[in-house]
Amino acid sequence: MKTLLLLPGDGIGPEVSGEVERVAEWLARNVGLELAIERAPFGGASYDADGAPLTDATKARALAADAVLMGAVGGPQWAGNARHLRPEAGLLNLRSAMEVFANLRPIYCFEALAGASSLKPEIVSGLDIMIVRELTGGVYFGQPRGIETLPDGSKRGVDTQVYTTAEIERIARVAFELARQRSNKVCSAEKSNVMETGLLWREVVTDLHKREYSDVILTHMLADNAAMQIVHNPKQFDVLVTDNLFGDILSDEAAMCTGSLGMLPSAAIGAPGKPGLYEPIHGSAPDIAGKGVANPLAAILSFAMALRLSLGRIDLGDRLFAAVAAALDAGARTRDIGGTLGTREMGDAVIAALGKSQQP
Ligand code: IPM
Ligand code: MG
Repeated sequence: MKTLLLLPGDGIGPEVSGEVERVAEWLARNVGLELAIERAPFGGASYDADGAPLTDATKARALAADAVLMGAVGGPQWAGNARHLRPEAGLLNLRSAMEVFANLRPIYCFEALAGASSLKPEIVSGLDIMIVRELTGGVYFGQPRGIETLPDGSKRGVDTQVYTTAEIERIARVAFELARQRSNKVCSAEKSNVMETGLLWREVVTDLHKREYSDVILTHMLADNAAMQIVHNPKQFDVLVTDNLFGDILSDEAAMCTGSLGMLPSAAIGAPGKPGLYEPIHGSAPDIAGKGVANPLAAILSFAMALRLSLGRIDLGDRLFAAVAAALDAGARTRDIGGTLGTREMGDAVIAALGKSQQP
């Protein structure tokens, strides 16, 4: 029996992870998925209940699970918290504790949604790229950091962008391996024109490519140009590998090509055999929280990635992915993708599609 730890978190997190639970229950009842689902408080909810966004108890349970699925974290009520007590700090600490350095963000445009993008349908139809974001290093973690008061009373804020050879090499390796299973192309994005870490990034990726992956087509692109190319011609990419900060930004941008941030799942993985952390890439959307209108598909698709990558059920991951596509083909739409369905009804549509896929 495998274990999935659900961290519903804040805002729309509890609603979307509730639909994951219903899908998992359906799979358990109908096709024999053996999965124990546990829950733990996380983010702002954990701060309110226990005084910290990530408690030692939740961290221990995450490390002991086979997969962890987070709903969302953050909200205006915690924006004034000290940095280490903000919900987002809980997420960064969890990623770090789980050592999930590789964040896979598939930017996939379901055919039924090609018209929902703000870009022309021909630009996004058939879009299928994979952003590989470094997740446990770079400027979100580098020391020194902080805000200090200067003698004249003004302040100075410091963040440090730092990467080592080993950190760059292991994320590049993930990108090259993935490319070999896809269209065999890797584009590496950095700012080697102005940043030392960018220069090292390009060097290390180039070296590794030469040594072990010369069969893969490697290109380099400055990250600002990559931002432009993503809206100009996103289909030129196959695997796009980049650092933590650029990956955060470029993945939100690329997600919008597919119609809605509410559609995009992600998987954060570390060493083989260690638990993976699965997260929709959208945030907690406080403006619609509790209204039952959030799109649960990013969370459900994150669960499909967990089935494939951490729970040993590639078959059920594929089947769930196909059920989402079928639900969309049948016209199921939440508000963010131009429809009227609520969170629960979208969950129902996926479950109905799963049921149909069972019949010969
Ligand atoms: C993401 C989010 C997080 C990040 C926040 C919530 C800490 O934006 O997963 O992209 O910056 O990594
Ligand atoms: Mg982000």
